Amino acid sequence: MKTPHHLVEKYNVAGPRYTSYPTVPYWQEADFSTLAYLKNAIDTFKISNANQGVSLYIHLPYCESLCTFCACNRRITRKHSVEARYIAALLKEWRMYVDLLAQHSDEPPRIREIHLGGGTPTFFSPEHLTALIEGLFKHAERAEGREFSFEGHPNNTTREHLQALFDVGFRRVSYGVQDYDAKVQAAIHRIQPFEHVQRVHEMARDIGYTSISHDLVFGLPHQTIASVEATIRKTAELAPDRLAFYSYAHVPWIKGNGQRGFDEADLPSGPVKRALYELGKDLFDDMGYVEVGMDHFARTTDSLCIAMREARLHRNFMGYTETNTQLMIGLGVSSISDVWSGFAQNDKDLDGYLARIEADEWPIQRGHLLTDEDLIVRQHILNIMCRMHTDWSDEAMRISELPEIVARLEEMRTDGLLVLTDHSLTVLESGRPFIRNIAMAFDVRLWAKQPETRLFSMMI
Ligand SMILES: C[S@@+](CC[C@H](N)C(=O)[O-])C[C@H]1O[C@@H](n2cnc3c(N)ncnc32)[C@H](O)[C@@H]1O
Ligand code: SF4
Repeated sequence: MKTPHHLVEKYNVAGPRYTSYPTVPYWQEADFSTLAYLKNAIDTFKISNANQGVSLYIHLPYCESLCTFCACNRRITRKHSVEARYIAALLKEWRMYVDLLAQHSDEPPRIREIHLGGGTPTFFSPEHLTALIEGLFKHAERAEGREFSFEGHPNNTTREHLQALFDVGFRRVSYGVQDYDAKVQAAIHRIQPFEHVQRVHEMARDIGYTSISHDLVFGLPHQTIASVEATIRKTAELAPDRLAFYSYAHVPWIKGNGQRGFDEADLPSGPVKRALYELGKDLFDDMGYVEVGMDHFARTTDSLCIAMREARLHRNFMGYTETNTQLMIGLGVSSISDVWSGFAQNDKDLDGYLARIEADEWPIQRGHLLTDEDLIVRQHILNIMCRMHTDWSDEAMRISELPEIVARLEEMRTDGLLVLTDHSLTVLESGRPFIRNIAMAFDVRLWAKQPETRLFSMMI
């Protein structure tokens, strides 16, 4: 379905992506303590480990070369001697969690999900990656229905990486493609010919990976309708199982961000960026991909799509997942843990993270403990982002701000984006591109304190 221009224009405001609620800038850091967070982690572990298992997000921050559009936490180096120290720190951090949990439960953690993100996981040698995964399982069991995935950089993923990770249980890989146009690649300082992506894509298929995803970004410098269409048509030749189509998040105010390597005047203007988004949506639709939540597209036969149809989709800091674990532990520099009733973020500074781990300290820098109201709002936002529907007929799903929330939704209702009853909201097909805006109506913390400075990137 084609989205009318005037709606795309109207709802293109700055807003969160809701991988958590409250969103990070609204965490109440003054009320947070590492001790209380760890207590919440233990409580959630005790009730969820046996039936849901535990998810691990592991941040591997190194990259050999800086892409000037990148908003991820990364450290650029060509010195691979850094690998061993970092892997040792990750395993030590995991051991800290394992020892703590063992004091309160007889069960070993059952790992259901692992995601290796970055930076560039494939910066690390296959031997180090194997040592990392095997090290985790020295103190944990493999859960039924496990899903292990990693982000591979097409320029440095080797057959040995793919085989080593396959051998320890990985079946999903996502490749950072971004854009195939030579001028765009030069501007973002990422020279990556189609042949590189084709090679690693086919190698993964050959080894037996069952889900290959490609990340594309729209809104990059020098992109045009024709260049993005060409990138998408090239992508179609490899027929990935999933696609991420990210809106370029231009956040140059973030410290240490390298997003100054190109002229801002080279970025597509607002209307062009919106047209790029619509182009992508239409082409993916023609190619047989279905939009899953936001940013993600999958074939109808893909498990993420099936999870969406069966109302099993979940969302956390890793994005959309089909495994709903209430305990997600983030290991590594800047990683965020979500223990359902609390969030914690590790030190964002690599040297600080390593120093704290090596001094036997928890590397946690900040966090938030969810109030009863936060838990209800979070459930509504999850329902909207994952099920396109939420309901407050049950007393347990009501909060005192409901009248204000409904008032904020009214305009979107008249614009034909959603259906409102006195106890529920259903997002219509036409409202799908605007689920972040719809979720934002429930974000009582954001409305209570409008930011003085820019916190979020634009919706599109
Ligand atoms: C950690 S990278 C993927 C792995 C590897 N480092 C690579 O570049 O191939 C994660 C993905 O985030 C996306 N990304 C990074 N910076 C972004 C930005 N500023 N706006 C939108 N997406 C971005 C890119 O699509 C990128 O592939
Ligand atoms: S896009 Fe990937 S490779 Fe490039 S700097 Fe960011 S994390 Fe590193």
